[in-house]
Amino acid sequence: MSHKLAPSLLSADFGNLQRDIEMINNSQADWFHIDVMDGMFVPNISFGFPVIKYIQKHAKKPLDVHLMIMDPDRYLKQFKDVGADIITVHYEAVTHLHRTIQLMKSLDVQAGVVLNPHTNVMLLEDIIADLDVVLLMSVNPGYGGQSFIENTYSKISKLKDLIIQKNSKALIEIDGGVGTHNIQKLVTTGADVLVAGNAVFGADDPMEMIKLLKKTI
Ligand code: DX5
Ligand code: ZN
Repeated sequence: MSHKLAPSLLSADFGNLQRDIEMINNSQADWFHIDVMDGMFVPNISFGFPVIKYIQKHAKKPLDVHLMIMDPDRYLKQFKDVGADIITVHYEAVTHLHRTIQLMKSLDVQAGVVLNPHTNVMLLEDIIADLDVVLLMSVNPGYGGQSFIENTYSKISKLKDLIIQKNSKALIEIDGGVGTHNIQKLVTTGADVLVAGNAVFGADDPMEMIKLLKKTI
């Protein structure tokens, strides 16, 4: 049972952030998923360095920082400095992806690439061997609480084949619309890390929901 669950703090109660961080610390969840949005790459704006630094101060599990920002190279070192353990950048927001991945490796963070729902997994053929994580968006990025896009299953299968073919160690992470209704099928298809925002923080008892999701995977 090595599948990981990464609750997304985007759906946490920002007025009670420390309480929600402690809840994740005390739960069976594996990573903190942190969604950074710039209002350009995606239509929404979330939070930046001071908030992440605060999260790191209290978090006892790895910080998985999902950058929905244009030209993320500009800020990679700052994200490392405020505590990022894993950083994922969007394929669609980077010009020289190989350079970006090398920069992340030089900063000693785990390096990941995110694909939007319309982006073909085969575009990673020549970089997959260098990646620690590939995050497949299963909704269009920008907001929590959206409906899961069913085509994601076929993308997971293709990506899994590519990872095996290229002898890559990359984990497959799924982000958007994940919950009790699909988490089992996602891991059966090949997902390794499951992000869940609304499913966890929208539940009556988030800690129990994490327990239930973990039991399923
Ligand atoms: C969307 C974010 C997701 C989001 C997931 O742009 O990348 O991480 O918080 O939220 P749910 O699980 O509610 O779809
Ligand atoms: Zn995310």
